[in-house]
Amino acid sequence: MTEDQKNIVSVRSLTKAYGATAVLKGIDFSVARGEIHALLGGNGAGKSTLIRIITGTATKDGGELFFRDASGNLLSETDGRLKVAVVHQELALLPHLTVAENIALPHFRKGSRLYDRRLATRQAHDALSMIDRDFAAVALNRLVGDLSLHEGQMVEIARALSSGAELILLDEPTANLTAIETERLFGVLRRLARDNGLSVVFVSHRMKEIRQIANVCSIIRDGRTVVKSVPTGDLTDRAIVEHMGQAHVMAAPRAIRVAQQSMAGEPLTITEDGFSVVLQPGTILGVAGAPAGPETLIAALVGAAHAKRWTVTRAGWPARFRSPHQAARLGAGFVTGDRAHRGILHSLPIIDNVLASRRVTRGSLFARKHEGVECLDLMQALKVKAGSLWHLPNTLSGGTQQKLLLARWLNLPSRLLVLEEPTRGVDIGTKREIYQLIRDMAATGTAIVWWSTENAELLEVCDRVLAFDTEGRSSGVIERDQLSEDRLATLTGMAA
Ligand SMILES: Nc1ncnc2c1ncn2[C@@H]1O[C@H](COP(=O)(O)OP(=O)(O)OP(=O)(O)O)[C@@H](O)[C@H]1O
Ligand SMILES: [Mg+2]
Repeated sequence: MTEDQKNIVSVRSLTKAYGATAVLKGIDFSVARGEIHALLGGNGAGKSTLIRIITGTATKDGGELFFRDASGNLLSETDGRLKVAVVHQELALLPHLTVAENIALPHFRKGSRLYDRRLATRQAHDALSMIDRDFAAVALNRLVGDLSLHEGQMVEIARALSSGAELILLDEPTANLTAIETERLFGVLRRLARDNGLSVVFVSHRMKEIRQIANVCSIIRDGRTVVKSVPTGDLTDRAIVEHMGQAHVMAAPRAIRVAQQSMAGEPLTITEDGFSVVLQPGTILGVAGAPAGPETLIAALVGAAHAKRWTVTRAGWPARFRSPHQAARLGAGFVTGDRAHRGILHSLPIIDNVLASRRVTRGSLFARKHEGVECLDLMQALKVKAGSLWHLPNTLSGGTQQKLLLARWLNLPSRLLVLEEPTRGVDIGTKREIYQLIRDMAATGTAIVWWSTENAELLEVCDRVLAFDTEGRSSGVIERDQLSEDRLATLTGMAA
């Protein structure tokens, strides 16, 4: 068999434009059988677009796309795609169906068999158990619409794993998983690759994970392949970052023009059954642990209706906010971790997405003359690539949409800013700059609460970290000088 015949999929000189914007300008990419292949590149480089063309949800303009079977024979695109499963960057589940139905239904459709509930439930259970046995035991009959983002992510992954696919494309599947779930997922992928010859394409902006899981990598930059199928171990982190065109990572971010205002003032106290944490203005409190605990705390902080366990006290604030609108007006900002469903305003242009919080806090819901400049400044600070301020946010890449959510609160005079995975899907280069921008905000007196499933991030940015165990109970506050990955792993019950 020639080298090319070993590839389950190969792509040559692929091009794609949206309107006048060339997005893919000549991509070469191929995946061999049994290979775990990292697809790398900065935000907007074209990774998701390439994946959409491989799976057939977008069409190519030019170039070639081949699928081959295990003996090296060419397949038609339709037959080739039957062997491919994908976990998209944003969840693609049917909310009014159960977990079991979401996992099993696609397979039934393909084979045009009738839906067999018992068989479906068994398949779904087996697939979900590979990642989380406890969740599989209780979740099968729940409606997907009632799941948290994190649980939905596990359902998507289970669906791909159970599909019997020979190639799985995972577009940032771990952005919402905890360390232990990621470890389990990687275990499953390695086993399937080794024993069943499964091929995996893995997109991630987390360097540590890329090294853990991928034996081969390709790097694309601005729509072109710059590194094709090189052993991951042959490239240093620095070399990868340089190939991505992000050598500026090491450089200091530039200051932005938006006016800052000092927010010195009262501390905030958050209490749960006698256990309380005082949050001083100007400090960054990290939140670590499996989602159950952080989710309830954050719901209380931002005034979501279902938060009863925690109380938040601060002079001049009500015990609970009536609405996000009230929270914003009183100086409490929130960057949601669920950008697709709760964060992005899909039907409004980029400029409205960026300026939404500013308009609320200033009490003017209408666009003002100077807003264009303000919006551009914010976008430049976060290196947002967009054709026009008036385009819809769905024309932006995943990481770029995340930046819109952050831009909304950046340098607004807030007393409290609650961040849920604020750098989710943001590329390595911009992450560093976001850390600095948020430190700068803290320096003006804003108190920051920062939940991250990436412990390395918490270690880098936080003054103290509030940890939750896997049951959702707070297990202690660690001060900066005591912080370490081991300490966090122990307190969150996620020691390997
Ligand atoms: N429907 C669309 N209309 C116009 N432009 C689009 C559309 N979809 C994507 N683009 C543009 O294509 C480029 C590549 O986007 P893509 O989503 O493939 O990037 P990515 O590499 O997946 O980035 P990220 O790491 O942020 O997910 C971006 O500049 C984006 O703005
Ligand atoms: Mg993407």
